[in-house]
Amino acid sequence: MLDRLLKEAPERHAVWAVLDPAREYPGVGAASWWRSEEDGELAEFSCTVLDGDQGRGVGTLLLATTWLDAMRSGVRRFVGYTMPENVTAVRWMRNTGAAAEWDGYKVIFRWDLDDLESLPATPPGVALAERLAELSGEMS
Ligand SMILES: CC(C)(COP(=O)(O)OP(=O)(O)OC[C@H]1O[C@@H](n2cnc3c(N)ncnc32)[C@H](O)[C@@H]1OP(=O)(O)O)[C@@H](O)C(=O)NCCC(=O)NCCS
Repeated sequence: MLDRLLKEAPERHAVWAVLDPAREYPGVGAASWWRSEEDGELAEFSCTVLDGDQGRGVGTLLLATTWLDAMRSGVRRFVGYTMPENVTAVRWMRNTGAAAEWDGYKVIFRWDLDDLESLPATPPGVALAERLAELSGEMS
């Protein structure tokens, strides 16, 4: 599993982490994207932030970072999955501009990475737009 995470070709997959070096265990959160085998412009996005660090903007920072990183590799759309009872994730994904659909089991979220105009005026939507603007110069 570690080999798969760390040795995958960089144009197919990347993992980004937020670290706090002042902590004994510095990991605060991480996100990844995996390009689809069938559709090179589509990648699966996933993100996890430590329970005690949620609600501080870490997830949105990781979404912005993976967004720009994936676009640099030619990805144009993200898809993410969660269970409907994960209301925190459902709300955050909707509030960062993802379109939602339910397949009868899980909720499927889709972000169009080219469409910054449609980012919602929610707090995470605004924070995402700000992060994308801030990071786009550094990651181009
Ligand atoms: C979903 C998840 C990744 C979001 O991460 P997060 O770090 O909490 O995300 P953010 O802090 O950027 O945004 C969460 C909320 O905090 C708010 N927020 C952001 N920065 C804030 C700040 N400085 N002060 C107060 N609130 C803030 C956001 O507006 C957002 O509000 P919303 O829930 O109404 O949309 C996190 O809840 C998680 O790891 N869940 C478990 C794993 C999971 O379900 N992952 C999703 C499948 S990919």
